[in-house]
Amino acid sequence: MTVTIVGSQLGDEGKGALVDLWGGDADIVVRYQGGDNAGHTVVEDGEEYKLSLVPSGAVRDKVGILGNGCVINPRTLFSEIDDLRERGLEPDVRLAKRAHVIMPYHRRLDNIEEEAKADSDLTVGTTGRGIGPTYEDKAGRRGIRVGDLLDRDVLRQRLEYVVPKKKSLIEDVYGLEAGEECDIEALIDEYAEFGRRLRENDMAVNCGDFLAERREAGENVMFEGAQGTLIDIDHGSYPYVTSSNPTAGGAATGSGLGPTVVGQGEVVGIVKAYLSRVGEGPMPTELKDDDREEELADYIREKGGEFGTVTGRPRRIGWLDIPMLRHAARVSGFTGIAVNHLDVLAGLDEIKVGHAYEHDGEERLTIPATTEEWAKCEPVLKEFEPWPDVDWSEVAEEGYDAIPDAAQDYLDYLAEELDVPVYAVGVGPDREQTVQLTNPFDE
Ligand code: IMP
Repeated sequence: MTVTIVGSQLGDEGKGALVDLWGGDADIVVRYQGGDNAGHTVVEDGEEYKLSLVPSGAVRDKVGILGNGCVINPRTLFSEIDDLRERGLEPDVRLAKRAHVIMPYHRRLDNIEEEAKADSDLTVGTTGRGIGPTYEDKAGRRGIRVGDLLDRDVLRQRLEYVVPKKKSLIEDVYGLEAGEECDIEALIDEYAEFGRRLRENDMAVNCGDFLAERREAGENVMFEGAQGTLIDIDHGSYPYVTSSNPTAGGAATGSGLGPTVVGQGEVVGIVKAYLSRVGEGPMPTELKDDDREEELADYIREKGGEFGTVTGRPRRIGWLDIPMLRHAARVSGFTGIAVNHLDVLAGLDEIKVGHAYEHDGEERLTIPATTEEWAKCEPVLKEFEPWPDVDWSEVAEEGYDAIPDAAQDYLDYLAEELDVPVYAVGVGPDREQTVQLTNPFDE
């Protein structure tokens, strides 16, 4: 049995809470795309762990895999693993040998390119972790893979080819000085040492084979998507996207199990009850048109803790965008949804959602394919009766029926529009504050 967790919006939907909740029934948790641009906080036995690469399941005695679709920065990975070990844990983390490695020159180029675009509307507002440049090298067939770190001679051969190209990009194209990120000998020493640690701890695996064997043995697999549908390189608001496929198709290509395996399982879209966005790009339901909207956005931002986990940047805030969710449900083929942060909207004077868009005098129910057209869409807002603030811990204990009626109407509307059931509702920041209607591993 597999369960795939997908972000339905722009990342930061609170996927971690559901990965935590249902991950308890998984034997293996697999990340299938992205790298240390993601960030999640895991609280276990009162201890808080801030992780960006180690899958959260690995803190809980599960096997955590970084699949071939991921881009892995070994500096971040080993620093997280060392930190967890110092705190008394023994995380079991495996890396796909086919996954690509984020090298120091990728990070440098990510920042240089953002800087170069700074005065134009092409700035993406990346996390600066080198994600885009690493996927570029993967597609350009000049990347370094995890498997290459295991053999110093192969690593040397690859770096001797690629580093002079990066150096000339930095120096000849951007007119800057290359530094330690282009020192081939230092890179070989440092990254072959990472390879030695991987070998010594038996951490590098053939991901697809590994997963297939464990599945044959009857184990449950959870695919943990990072980021969200609207920053998917294919289905997001290009070019304001990350460079991978957070949508469910990525779980197959990014792990080495087939689409039929992923498709036989459950695909759960994680929805935040409102919208947030870090970085640039259109956001038709954004709350920013007048002082009142800005005040409301500030209130939601503070109450919902809407500041980037990785970068600390304040997130832009808007009403829930239903055309975006219809798009997400289709792209990933959701079998269910989980709706988070319902408590954050409690006690407001008004609750709205963007039910549709108006564009060129026509009403549209889903997102246009070009970002320019999307930016021209005006939201057609639908009002809901606000729900009161209540003791959400009590609601979490008592279950779905304790959710205020108006909030239930909001959830019913969502389920109807997306034509899928609600599996869980997040009513607070703690792991226990999730009301579960269905456990997808039981389906
Ligand atoms: P990159 O992934 O660092 O290349 O950033 C590309 C875009 O994706 C930027 O708009 C980032 O803010 C956004 N992004 C990347 N990772 C996350 C995430 O985990 N949550 C929300 N947005 C993200």
